Amino acid sequence: MNILILQASPRAKGNTAWMAEEMKNAAQAAGHQATLVDVSHKKIAGCLACEYCHTKGNGACIQNDDMQQLYPLMAQADVLVLAAPIYYFTLCAQLQAPIQRMYCVGKPAKVQKMALLLSSYSPGVYDGAKAEYRDICNYWGAADAGIVTANNDEQKTDAVKARIADIVAKL
Ligand SMILES: Cc1cc2nc3c(=O)[nH]c(=O)nc-3n(C[C@H](O)[C@H](O)[C@H](O)COP(=O)(O)O)c2cc1C
Repeated sequence: MNILILQASPRAKGNTAWMAEEMKNAAQAAGHQATLVDVSHKKIAGCLACEYCHTKGNGACIQNDDMQQLYPLMAQADVLVLAAPIYYFTLCAQLQAPIQRMYCVGKPAKVQKMALLLSSYSPGVYDGAKAEYRDICNYWGAADAGIVTANNDEQKTDAVKARIADIVAKL
């Protein structure tokens, strides 16, 4: 399967980046095609709600930023993995922007499954992010392939690595 991983932490050596890399490596080892995109270092603005896409634009977004690189990757993905740190009890803004910019196309054309990788300092801070993720899975018609969380005491551990591998094994 074609797996697209969106990594949204600005910390290149942080926990989210580590989990995203583990996901990519496990997916490739299992024979999948996996692409990891660091959306945190892309210039992706929020949706303008200008409705150009739904009127003159015929599904295209008027904003000419790095999201234009992501649209074709989103269109080809069978599996979408969202990887984000928790900021103020929810998905960080660097992930919210590309998700909300999908407004122009409605939903990724081929995505059948999604997974979520979350990093935080504290335990028990994931309800908001999980609720949003599950609503997006439903809205995009994708099955939830699994959620992995890692708080400060769990980061970069073999247990987290095994949970990521478990998701890949069931894809
Ligand atoms: C702006 C900001 C907001 C944060 N909000 C929370 C929070 O609400 N709950 C929490 O447990 N950690 C919070 N954190 C800590 C990060 O989630 C935590 O350090 C995480 O492991 C960072 O992931 P990374 O290593 O992938 O960057 C916040 C960090 C930042 C920079």
